[in-house]
Amino acid sequence: MKITMVHGQNHKGSTWHVADELLKNIDADYTLKEFFLPKDLNHFCLGCYACVKSREQCPFWEDKAQLDTALREADLLIFTTPTYCMMPSAPMKAFIDLFFTNWMSHKPCEEMFAKRAVIISTAAGAGAKKATKPIAEMLLYWGVPKVSRYGLAVNASSWAGVPEKKKAKIAGDMKKLGKKLSAGKKPGIGVRTRFLFRLMAGMQKAGWGAGPEEKAYWQEKGWLNGKKPWKGS
Ligand SMILES: Cc1cc2nc3c(=O)[nH]c(=O)nc-3n(C[C@H](O)[C@H](O)[C@H](O)COP(=O)(O)O)c2cc1C
Repeated sequence: MKITMVHGQNHKGSTWHVADELLKNIDADYTLKEFFLPKDLNHFCLGCYACVKSREQCPFWEDKAQLDTALREADLLIFTTPTYCMMPSAPMKAFIDLFFTNWMSHKPCEEMFAKRAVIISTAAGAGAKKATKPIAEMLLYWGVPKVSRYGLAVNASSWAGVPEKKKAKIAGDMKKLGKKLSAGKKPGIGVRTRFLFRLMAGMQKAGWGAGPEEKAYWQEKGWLNGKKPWKGS
């Protein structure tokens, strides 16, 4: 199994430790690619729309390419972010913007329709589940069919301060989640994904995309003629 993990923080705090606990419970051979933001990608989207012409035209492509490959290759994507002001961290939001080409409203990648993903956030008190939501929304629009969200109040500002009882809960929860993910079952495509894809295909067909290159992309894939990204080419 190939796992790509994207952290919305540079440090190995409570959130990272939850993800690490999950990895310890993956009962399968796996390879891991791990990215820390902003260390491994330190840009903000300029809103130039060059990427909708072709991904490689993004002014930051050189720095994004490695991450892009790792995201496409993975069977399992894991995103982590500390809860900052009831939201994901700013570097995570910057990441969401930098990969907006992947959204079904633009140029979705067929690889995404076969993946599972996990989103992890910790808060001191409130907002951890809420912080996972924008990432879940991004993954829905990327076409990832199976996403698990884990948001937890850890009652601490650092991993060292997390009460033992909480750590035991995390260990139990990650054991359960790890077991589910280890089975490596191919995820089915849900109604929301099918609905969104059909809607976006209709939009591209009508020429309401962000440019002719987008429509050409959908056409090349055969998606304007009934082909589906989850059924292979
Ligand atoms: C800028 C900032 C904003 C924060 N906002 C919240 C918040 O909205 N709700 C909350 O309960 N904790 C908040 N916290 C606390 C962290 O979410 C919490 O300590 C979290 O477990 C840190 O994870 P980490 O150790 O992986 O960095 C905030 C901390 C910082 C530094």
